[in-house]
Amino acid sequence: MSEISTGSTPDELLAIAVRVAREAAVTARRMRAEAIVDVQTKSTETDVVTAADKAVERQAVEALLKDRPGDGVLGEEYGDSVAVAPGAVRWILDPIDGTVNYLYGLPQYAVSLAAEVDGVVVAGVVVNAATGDEWTATKGGGAWRDGRRLTGSARTTLDQSLIATGFGYDARRREHQGAVLARLITRVRDIRRLGAASLDLCLTAEGSLDAYFEKGLNLWDHAAGGLIAEEAGLVVGGLAGEPAGGRMLVAAPPALFPALHDALVELDAAGGA
Ligand code: IPD
Repeated sequence: MSEISTGSTPDELLAIAVRVAREAAVTARRMRAEAIVDVQTKSTETDVVTAADKAVERQAVEALLKDRPGDGVLGEEYGDSVAVAPGAVRWILDPIDGTVNYLYGLPQYAVSLAAEVDGVVVAGVVVNAATGDEWTATKGGGAWRDGRRLTGSARTTLDQSLIATGFGYDARRREHQGAVLARLITRVRDIRRLGAASLDLCLTAEGSLDAYFEKGLNLWDHAAGGLIAEEAGLVVGGLAGEPAGGRMLVAAPPALFPALHDALVELDAAGGA
């Protein structure tokens, strides 16, 4: 892999990301064990999740900037640390993706960390903090889990496909998302709502899900998982030629993407609040 203008190759950036994300995952898991005691004594449930989110993010940001002081970081809790110069690295971090699962102790919550240069994600890792499962990708270097190259699902028809999605936190947005889902569910094998967008993308990359779509994601939800899905050969995009983003993200194998895309356009999945 060629060197990019940051002085580091995507592989070198990935190595840093993997180390930092693994350490962050250990902290997230440990804090959850301690939080059970906290919830019963002094804190509210949301305080516990917010405290863990903040602590994990602080730890990861410190570790990144210790290694690479000139870089910027966009994190869910703290926002953008510094303006990033052209050609410099911006790390995009979700300290705990799947916070509701984290709260309930369901084993689908993850640290998601990506390295972006000039608006292009060049390396990414997602670590399921509950299980230690890990997915990685570099731009042009493929997507990997446990030394196995990922290639997505071979499914080609919507009616045979297992489709994952997610819902925003806003009730008005959910109303529309629920209406879309009520009509889509009759056309597919089944629907899954696992509760962590980064893991949805990784599971789609490895073919454990056939496709995934969601409206309303933030960049930190999909930066790393989106690269992993793309590098697994999936099409990752929005509707009607738009790039993947907050209005809509669809990730599907090339043979399945058009059918899912067209159904989502017909159902106005990018509409509503
Ligand atoms: C959420 C999860 C969820 C998705 C939401 C996200 P958070 O992230 O990824 O699966 O449906 O849109 O906001 O709040 O757990 O970091």
